[in-house]
Amino acid sequence: MNRFRILGVLGALLFSFPALAQNSAPPATVLSPDGAIAVTVGADGEGHPVWTLSRKGKLLVSPSRLGFLLTDGLPLDRGFTVTGESRGSGDDTWEQPWGERRYVRDHYNELTVSYRQNADRGGRLLSVHFRLFDNGIGFRYELPEQPAFKTMHIAEELTEFRLTTNGTALWIPGGEFNRYEQLYSRTPIDAISTAHTPLTMMLEDGTHMVFHEAALVDYAGYWLKRADGLTFRTTLAPSSQGAKVVRDLPFATPWRTIRLADDAAGIVENDLELNLNEPNKLGDVSWVKPGRYIGIWWGMISGKWTWATGPNHGATTERAKQHIDFARKHHFSGVLVEGWNKGWDGDWFGTGFDYSFTQPTTDFDIKAVTDYARKQGVTLIGHHETGGNIANYEAQLDDAMKFYASLGVTKVKTGYVADAGGIIAPGDKPGEVRMEWHDGQRQVQHHLKVVETAAKYHISIDAHEPVKDTGLRRTYPNWIDREGARGMEYNAWGKFNNPPGHEANLVYTRMLSGPMDFTPGVLSLQGSNGVPLASTLAKQLGLYLAIYSPIQMAADFLENLEAHPRELDFIGTIPTDWSESHLIAGEVGRYAIFARKDRASETWFAGGVNDADARTVTLKLDFLAPGMTYLATIARDGEGATYETEARHRIAWETRKVTRDDTISLWLAPGGGAAIRLEPVKTAKKR
Ligand code: NOJ
Ligand code: CA
Repeated sequence: MNRFRILGVLGALLFSFPALAQNSAPPATVLSPDGAIAVTVGADGEGHPVWTLSRKGKLLVSPSRLGFLLTDGLPLDRGFTVTGESRGSGDDTWEQPWGERRYVRDHYNELTVSYRQNADRGGRLLSVHFRLFDNGIGFRYELPEQPAFKTMHIAEELTEFRLTTNGTALWIPGGEFNRYEQLYSRTPIDAISTAHTPLTMMLEDGTHMVFHEAALVDYAGYWLKRADGLTFRTTLAPSSQGAKVVRDLPFATPWRTIRLADDAAGIVENDLELNLNEPNKLGDVSWVKPGRYIGIWWGMISGKWTWATGPNHGATTERAKQHIDFARKHHFSGVLVEGWNKGWDGDWFGTGFDYSFTQPTTDFDIKAVTDYARKQGVTLIGHHETGGNIANYEAQLDDAMKFYASLGVTKVKTGYVADAGGIIAPGDKPGEVRMEWHDGQRQVQHHLKVVETAAKYHISIDAHEPVKDTGLRRTYPNWIDREGARGMEYNAWGKFNNPPGHEANLVYTRMLSGPMDFTPGVLSLQGSNGVPLASTLAKQLGLYLAIYSPIQMAADFLENLEAHPRELDFIGTIPTDWSESHLIAGEVGRYAIFARKDRASETWFAGGVNDADARTVTLKLDFLAPGMTYLATIARDGEGATYETEARHRIAWETRKVTRDDTISLWLAPGGGAAIRLEPVKTAKKR
């Protein structure tokens, strides 16, 4: 038995259930493949299903209850006995069609514990399925087919996490009007109220824990509510239907996941949720293509142009052609055009009833634009702003995708601008509506309907104001991106609206769920009316390495991009698809420097972002291949750079030859960042 395994077993012995349920089998324990993580599952004296979690011999979650409240029957939370268990394990490596890394290892041990509720409580059956990896756990409820229980109306899910140790958490509130577009709080764990996931914690002993979920399909997203002290419980997003979730049996819930590691890299380089999703259901997805893009976008976000028709309408035929020319010249494959369609004509915060997804405005000749784009080897990126009105959107969905596909559009950005609870869904009768939540069961169903419909037309989806990412890109690789946090747009709307540490917070929270369409590349460092960004120029480049996205925008006005030829040229070389990605330096919520290897060549890139505190980091280049020399092109914060003053524009460029035995020392400015390209010398082009 290795040291970890002994620790795992010790951890499992560390707890005791208050008393065993009568006739119940004793608690069952399962260890992670390396033996360090242990989960024990059983039933307590009142027949509550309970579980515990320990790692390296330390109890992290003391006996915690599992179960459900129903709207139409007795709770599924007590009076259970354990009726059986089954075990399994797996060790497989699978390939991502695109992603931060090409190969993903899926190595686990699993345990399913089956329960039966006492006859006087309905005799219902419930199983809990745990899967343990070396870097975390997932578990889900499985409701088997059974005679007297056909449909489950869930009022609440009662999954409990009784943490044993305080520490520091990085979190945003769940259930607030602005959905996931919030600034992060860094507080003691016992000062959290109700948090969205991913919710990141650093325990007092240094253990890093991230709470999230995987495979959120036909169910409501959960928020984690602190019930008391260090005890947390799931709260499902609401529904207009009384029950938050309605499902016919048999079914399984999404996986509740906890990433576990000793350090920041351990929670970042972690494919737990992807591994808990089903493999690709779409077959050949060679039509899903990562790439860089620009767009008719920042002009509207910063108020110079309008989405609506009129003298300042952004989406004109001429402006689109100008963007296509720019894209071809500067190595961008896509051009996003928003505000192109009839109906969405004036109101950013509309109700969406009149939006057409097949009729362009009269000043936007979509046929001419897409024909022109094709000739230039560029594709138009489509846009469907719904105003949160999925009733109107779903009625047009198939036609909308067919229309774009007929024009050669292969990616569509969707949008659901509405406050939380403001999703307008179709009701039972024509003309009736129901109000739903962005993370409720109905909207979760909607997103998959959009992704599946788009797949029929070989279109990839980038959802804004989405539900959180739970790894479904593995199953539906055309779900290429989403927003789901405060992106660059906030910088247009007020001075330092996204504070200097925002992106370093994102890396360790939102980004743990999957790619984000953050839209970096505002090289002017200016938003609306010249308001400054809390960023240095080098940070704008570092964002391309810190915030992973298979589609990466350069968001600024074309003239502002062109005013920075060296930075623009550099952006035009940054890949959007990687064979490897590593966090080579970083601390949760402070700074993050990644090394990523291009999937199509031997070139590496390194870089990332800093928070408000200047620091110097020394990067080891030992990720480079042995025996090779690389030409390093380094963009870093210039002397005295800081986000606080005009010195934010100071950037320093350097080229030098390096090998894997070298180090690069980087001074990161307040609100700063850095980006480095490392090309093998024999293939390095003259620049
Ligand atoms: C909010 C999105 O995040 C932004 O990218 C988009 O331009 C507007 N909604 C309009 O759809
Ligand atoms: Ca948004």
